Parts: sequence; structure tokens; C-alpha cells
Amino acid sequence: MEKISIAIDGPASSGKSTVAKILASDYGFIYVDTGAMYRTITYLAIKHQVAFSNEEKLAELAIDYPITFKQSAHGQLVFVDDEDITMAIRQPDVTAAVSEVSAHGKVREKLVEAQRKLATAGGIVMDGRDIGTTVLPQAEVKIFLIASVEERAQRRYKENQAKGIEMDFEMIKEAIAKRDYLDSHREVSPLIQAEDALLVDTTGMSIVQVVGKIKAIVTSKGF
Ligand code: DC
Repeated sequence: MEKISIAIDGPASSGKSTVAKILASDYGFIYVDTGAMYRTITYLAIKHQVAFSNEEKLAELAIDYPITFKQSAHGQLVFVDDEDITMAIRQPDVTAAVSEVSAHGKVREKLVEAQRKLATAGGIVMDGRDIGTTVLPQAEVKIFLIASVEERAQRRYKENQAKGIEMDFEMIKEAIAKRDYLDSHREVSPLIQAEDALLVDTTGMSIVQVVGKIKAIVTSKGF
């Protein structure tokens, strides 16, 4: 397999990370979860008591605390210094504030820089909101994954239960709809489908089906 870049964008809980991880593993590519990077800055802001509105200080956190991804038997782990924050960045306090933090241009600038560095060697599957439009506009394959709010809320609910995170279904649905709105209406790099991205609606599709569909797209492009 040629070392191409695959960009997967879409709204919260559309299945991006699950599908991206499988694709990366099957192709022997590196997987980069850019949402985890915005979550990390949000987690650090809470820990160091930086206001979510303080763009300068938040951008400094992105410089002072490089984020590293480590592979383990239990999947990919997220580290800042020697602290494993994989679980901490999925907690509701981080999820509730991440849209505000990720709306700042200076925060995005720093993280986009780090994301492009991770992709320089090629052979990458990167998921997020602005990968096809901003981070890797030259990506050979761009996918825009969507699913109904109802189905995404159901997926997140089950995921949370499996991880032992208790959250009411209606609250999850509301939080997803709110995050959709904020992510698509911010001024800097809003969530939009790149012109050359292919839309895949995963409502009613299994993970295996979605992976199969994307692989078919990759093959149809001659890779
Ligand atoms: O994919 P996720 O739910 O873990 O992403 C968390 C938040 O980070 C999401 O609400 C929007 C933001 N984000 C972003 O602005 N740009 C990205 N490339 C990835 C995530």
C-alpha cells in the first residue's frame, strides 16, 4: 500500500475514530486523533485554571505541553509529559468545554502545526473537523462522515456505558446537537465538507460496512 494520507472529517460521534483506527491498522498507517489534541488543551486549561476564553494562555499550553500518542495493547494512549490522560480527556467536563477552546485561532494554529508534523512521513489516517479543508488539503483521500443526531447519541451513550461514564441519553443528544452547532458555526476552520471530500452517511450502517465502503473508495482512486 502506497503511503497516502486519508482525511476523515465529520461531526461528533459520527464514527470517525473507530473507523479511522481500523483503517490505519489494516493499512499499517499511523492514526492521529486530532479531537484528542483539542481535548488535551481543554483538560490542561481546567488543570491549570486557564479561562476557556483566554486565547493567548490556551495557545501557550499547546506550546508548553507537547502531546504524544503511544500504542498499547489497549489501543492508543494520549500522554502529556509522563501523565496518561487518555481517560481524563473523555470526561464530561472536558467534552462540554472543548468547542469553546477549539474555536480560538491561535490554539488551532499551534495544533495544526503539530498535526502536519505528525503527517510528514505519509501513511496516515487523521480524523477531525478540518483535516480535508485545512490540515491536509493535499490528502489523497477525503471522507466526510455523517449520521443522524439520534443515532450518534445512541452510539455515544453505549460507548460511555462501556467506559463506565454515566450520562443521561437526552443530555448526550443535546450536547451533541450543541457541539454540532458550535463546531460548524465558528469563524476559524468550521466543520464543513471539503469540496473534494466524499460524503458517507453511516446512519444504519455497521462499522464493518463503513470500513468496507471507505476501502472501496480508496481502491477506486487507484491506491
Ligand atoms: O472528535 P472529538 O469529539 O473528540 O473532538 C472534540 C472537539 O474538538 C470537537 O467538539 C471539535 C474540536 N475539534 C476541532 O475543532 N478540530 C479538529 N480537527 C478536531 C476536533
